[in-house]
Amino acid sequence: MGESNYASLEVNGKKIELPIIESSDGDNGIDISRLRAETGYITFDNGFSNTASSISNITHIDGEQGELRIRGYNIEDLVHNCSFREVAYLLVHGSLPTRDQLTAFSSYLNEHSLIDEDMHHFFSGFPRNGHPMAILAAMVTSLSSFYPDLEDTKDQSFDITAARLVSKVRTIAAFSYRKSKGQALVYPRHDLNYCSNFLNMMFDSSVKPYHIDPLYAKILDKLLILHVDHGQNCSTTAVKLIGSAKANLYAAISAGICALWGPLHGGANQAVVEMLENIMADDGDVQKYIGMAKDRDNAFRLMGFGHAIYKNYDPRAKLAKELVDELFSSREINDPLLDIARKLEAAALSDEFFIERKLYPNIDFYTGILYRALGIPTNMLTVMFVIGRLPGWIAQWKEFIDNKSRIFRPRQIYVGPDLRSFVEIDKR
Ligand code: ACO
Repeated sequence: MGESNYASLEVNGKKIELPIIESSDGDNGIDISRLRAETGYITFDNGFSNTASSISNITHIDGEQGELRIRGYNIEDLVHNCSFREVAYLLVHGSLPTRDQLTAFSSYLNEHSLIDEDMHHFFSGFPRNGHPMAILAAMVTSLSSFYPDLEDTKDQSFDITAARLVSKVRTIAAFSYRKSKGQALVYPRHDLNYCSNFLNMMFDSSVKPYHIDPLYAKILDKLLILHVDHGQNCSTTAVKLIGSAKANLYAAISAGICALWGPLHGGANQAVVEMLENIMADDGDVQKYIGMAKDRDNAFRLMGFGHAIYKNYDPRAKLAKELVDELFSSREINDPLLDIARKLEAAALSDEFFIERKLYPNIDFYTGILYRALGIPTNMLTVMFVIGRLPGWIAQWKEFIDNKSRIFRPRQIYVGPDLRSFVEIDKR
């Protein structure tokens, strides 16, 4: 590559020059869009881990150093200094809000926090033990039949649609929990902030009013910031994939929810808690689970460990650990899973298998324990991730649409049969 702005590639004796696309963080790309036309070849990149799907100015990740910046701000600065509403605004609008802008955004969140009364009937159609992620994905898709499609990403309708989604997803999440418990719905209140409102919708009762602990609301707020965006991950790519076909924003977000559900992605926070519960039931034998994770004949993986990009400590996991310390030292919470998690982390970080492969705790390792401490049940953990990630999905979708990107249409390397003669059914 040298100093030039082109990379040379030789394919079957034919040399071609491929333009280099410079990034602002050193992760430069080689533009191969003319490769097939000029050589007849396509590329193969299992899992797309060497392929940039987009040119984006939203999130910078340095996996080697363990750094994450959102719109140029270190995640540590955002978590320590901002509210989730401010960070959501930052994602959706590109800059941190002024006081007036934040007030206007908060009013939108309040105005759009209810869902159409007719949608309430849908909840009763789901079985009592239906997974909240299934309910959430279905309800978000159905928002598209109740609320107008977004016509322009550059006018006020975008602000309203973004606020509508950020606000209503929180309401739907709380409602699906209430339904799963067979409890009456608790409506959002304009006098409560975003996270206090969510906690109140989850846990208030007419027979036992819920006391909102400001520390709980603060920890929840910080947790949501930790989830807010993470570049071109699996669920964000799903949102863009569906968006690239020009399906409506609600449908695209619903696809992101389904992708996030998977245990290798956002579903890992639920899987971590279940794993820790299993270890506890096994007398806290963390070494047994370390051994299982290392055993090539065993499909078990240490959940909440390893990351496709981070080959260092995930900065979000460090911040989650700080929040654990803050919450557990300020309130009388005793969770035996926390001791197991700490032992498991220490055992893994001193084991050659994990050291060699640069496997560190990721965001999901401690967040489940925090949510549990706030009273959020295990099957709601990935739903919490959705609420946090939503502004990121909206921002990534908007950037993609505004860049007039093409429909996602990867090719394949076909290895199936050659042309076969058709045989009538009775002669096969
Ligand atoms: N436990 C045990 N071994 C692991 C783990 C793990 N959690 N993660 C990776 N490895 C091993 C692999 O077996 C592989 O070993 P090998 O070189 O001997 O074959 C090596 O480390 C590299 O693993 P890959 O699968 O290539 O790593 P990749 O980057 O593709 O996967 C992933 C990343 C999916 C996150 C993986 O680390 C994993 O499954 N972790 C557990 C699930 C999890 O916590 N997911 C949440 C990620 S954060 C998020 O999405 C929000």
